[in-house]
Amino acid sequence: MHLGRKTLSKFLIENVSGSRDGASLAALLVDVAAAVKAIAALSAKGALGGATGSLESVNVQGETQKPLDVLSNTAFVNTFQMGGLVAGVASEEMDEPFPIRAPYVRGPFLAVFDPLDGSSNIDANVSVGSIFSILHAPEQGEPQTADYLQPGQHQVAAGYALYGPATLLVLTVGRGTHGFTLDREVGNFILTHPNIQIPADTGEFAINTSNERFWEPPVTRYVSECKAGKTGPRERDFNMRWIASMVAEVHRILMRGGIFMYPRDTKDPGKPGRLRLLYEANPMGFVVEQAGGRASTGRERILDLAPTQVHQRVPVILGSRNEVDRLVRYHAEYDAGTDKPYESPLFSERGLYRP
Ligand code: F6P
Ligand code: MN
Repeated sequence: MHLGRKTLSKFLIENVSGSRDGASLAALLVDVAAAVKAIAALSAKGALGGATGSLESVNVQGETQKPLDVLSNTAFVNTFQMGGLVAGVASEEMDEPFPIRAPYVRGPFLAVFDPLDGSSNIDANVSVGSIFSILHAPEQGEPQTADYLQPGQHQVAAGYALYGPATLLVLTVGRGTHGFTLDREVGNFILTHPNIQIPADTGEFAINTSNERFWEPPVTRYVSECKAGKTGPRERDFNMRWIASMVAEVHRILMRGGIFMYPRDTKDPGKPGRLRLLYEANPMGFVVEQAGGRASTGRERILDLAPTQVHQRVPVILGSRNEVDRLVRYHAEYDAGTDKPYESPLFSERGLYRP
């Protein structure tokens, strides 16, 4: 029982209500939690809910939709539409942003979300999640696509829900990153992980190594050094994890440190990365930075990027500060051509360190 512990509503009243549009933001985050509870209930039914398998439809990303992708999207859209707190929504599962129109009431925010992240995992009963980002809406009129293209540093709030053995809601309003666990019997989110801090160092990395032949040299260098362990230049062993569910991966990193990489690769020249800037990289970047971590493309801070398209993809490297900084340095050394010590004069035929 959680009596005496802080509920999400109480937390929001204390932490958000005083700021610009704060009461509306608090109410909006309670709406997010309501949609999350509905999706948690749906996904927990598994095959008994009749929403497993795939649909005929393909989303704008070219991915086959799952019934739960569509149901989760509907849960968010309906909640936001009824709530009167957003002027429009954009989602991974919708080709274009969706403006709120009469008879519904427009509010001061835009909501951008990935309703069911990692949904390839659903049929295997592996953790999935939802990711959301809240932006200010234009002061007047119906929001246009350009209104959604705000850099991540302008986010008002962001977070994710993780549908795992427990359902968790982790969010930031720019004052640290905080985690809430769903008490299913009572239906409340309870503050269980206040002020999460990502350890600055880690011995754990996450990357889909089946893409190795498409990586850039700095990523190959970093991963091969990790794999070389004690006998390599890092002089310590590393462990590897890959869940193929970004939410689960980021949550593990928030709990015990780690580095997550979906870097730039040459697999599909039309896509500079796999993950989407507005509803994956930006909200996760905000959450991770607020927990003392870093989020970068390898060359730029994620939250500094100026978006050009709603479904734009970017390289993502995030997590423990010192490891992300190291990989950013490897990118800089590669770009400057200083990353090949064995090509420097010291390593030449008569050099000091000839291998
Ligand atoms: O939404 C994209 C996503 O499903 C992430 O959750 C996950 O990190 C990644 O794609 C998995 O990609 P892959 O199937 O290439 O391992
Ligand atoms: Mn996703």
